[in-house]
Amino acid sequence: MMIRLDKYLADMGAGTRSEIKKTIRAGRAAVNGAVTKRPETRIDTEKDTVELDGRNVSYEAYEYFMLNKPSGTVSAVTDRRETTVVSLIRDRKRDDLFPVGRLDKDTEGLLLITNDGALAHRLLAPAKHVDKLYFARVRGAVTEEDKERFARGLDIGDEKPTLPADLTVCSSGEISEITLTIREGRFHQVKRMFQAVGKEVVYLKRLGMGPLMLDERLKPGEYRRLTEKEVEELCSLERKQ
Ligand code: URA
Repeated sequence: MMIRLDKYLADMGAGTRSEIKKTIRAGRAAVNGAVTKRPETRIDTEKDTVELDGRNVSYEAYEYFMLNKPSGTVSAVTDRRETTVVSLIRDRKRDDLFPVGRLDKDTEGLLLITNDGALAHRLLAPAKHVDKLYFARVRGAVTEEDKERFARGLDIGDEKPTLPADLTVCSSGEISEITLTIREGRFHQVKRMFQAVGKEVVYLKRLGMGPLMLDERLKPGEYRRLTEKEVEELCSLERKQ
């Protein structure tokens, strides 16, 4: 990709465009070993090397992070009052990251954070029916009948019933533990599905989205970059659909 030097450095978080222009004009940036004072210098992000104050600045067009979202944070980029999921990603290069979809403030678990808009769009498109796997604790005994009702699709007060969902009961009692796979992403969907069968979700965690599974080593609030294999799997999911 060919981009201007000032955009290259801005994309990599070196400052605002106007700060960077001044930095470049002051002779602090070099391209392929030669100082250039022109912010408009064209850079080939695949081939050219760029230095700022003598330090190499490599270019990343896209970044992909897996966050174990902690309860109490909002699935947004910025918020005046609340801690956002994007603010938890400290060692990012890009300043255009966003969460792919939303988890409720009190929901934990897998959230993909990226600046790859095309991937996000396809993962979230309702017609794609990408699987989302959740673990939940539910007040009340979860029964075989609930399982069947989830499998048939439930009226949760929307225009259409939910698509068939796979409910697995891990333990049933005063507080039951379940896993659930849904193929849509409606507002508060898991909580509303349990409400529709007269039960209350008291804890909710997302474990998987399409081929991407939460790395169990990540504690709430921790994150890591996706591996190349994970990125490739997500991208090939797009192609298959
Ligand atoms: N369903 C919910 O009810 N809440 C979430 O955060 C995700 C799915």
